[in-house]
Amino acid sequence: MAVDCLLASFILLIISKTGFSAEISVFVETGASVQLNIQTQGLTEFDQLSWINDKSVNIIKFFIETKKVRPHNSYKDRVDFNDKTFSLTLKNMQKTDSGLYTARTSGQSDKDIVTYRVSVIDAVKIPVLTVDSSWSNDSCVISVTCGGHELTLSSTFVYTACSREEVTSHEINTLILYCSEKSIICNHSNPVSWKQDRINITQLCEGKYQQSLYQTN
Ligand SMILES: *[C@@H]1O[C@H](CO)[C@@H](O)[C@H](O)[C@H]1NC(C)=O
Ligand SMILES: *[C@@H]1O[C@H](CO)[C@@H](O)[C@H](O)[C@H]1NC(C)=O
Ligand SMILES: *[C@@H]1O[C@H](CO)[C@@H](O)[C@H](O)[C@H]1NC(C)=O
Repeated sequence: MAVDCLLASFILLIISKTGFSAEISVFVETGASVQLNIQTQGLTEFDQLSWINDKSVNIIKFFIETKKVRPHNSYKDRVDFNDKTFSLTLKNMQKTDSGLYTARTSGQSDKDIVTYRVSVIDAVKIPVLTVDSSWSNDSCVISVTCGGHELTLSSTFVYTACSREEVTSHEINTLILYCSEKSIICNHSNPVSWKQDRINITQLCEGKYQQSLYQTN
């Protein structure tokens, strides 16, 4: 049975540099929203504030004196701007929206306040767990293989003494194979989602035990 646990819009923040004008890495699930914030402390006086993408499009321009917010035509249906915190929310993010987003103030001089590196990625697929079990030496021995994305993990568990955990990762994808109480679980995750497949060991091993009794009689 596959248990599907999807996080709608989980955001992982990795702050690569600290302080003013840091570049902040954010992962967003395809179709989800992302909110880009500004640390308003330390902002010096300015006339206007813009959020700009790496194609030099002014996604929004905010004029402090009139409190007027002017979104770019191509963004106006999917952007929210907060004129108190100056945060920008972009909705329905697609992979083509991946890139840099910068908040810039203009006054006597221009100043970049913060830059976000946004990566829009799909949720992971459910991993595929395959098992093979046998009853040997009074124990149920289970050989497991779990595959997800470009990753594969294999292990052998002995019922009821399974405690080992196997982990592998490729780029931003991680696969974890472990044993929990009465199940073997394979968890496939990336920064925006995780999904698992699990197998009931009790069921699997009881079946093998019965077969072993039948064979010895
Ligand atoms: C069976 O289990 C016993 C006791 O745990 C161990 O000493 C023995 O080596 C095992 N035999 C095999 C074939 O695994
Ligand atoms: C699967 O992995 C993710 C990311 O490491 C974690 O947040 C989640 O709790 C795990 N789920 C299970 C059932 O282990
Ligand atoms: C696993 O299988 C056993 C035996 O069929 C059953 O009693 C138990 O409820 C199952 N556990 C889970 C978590 O499905």
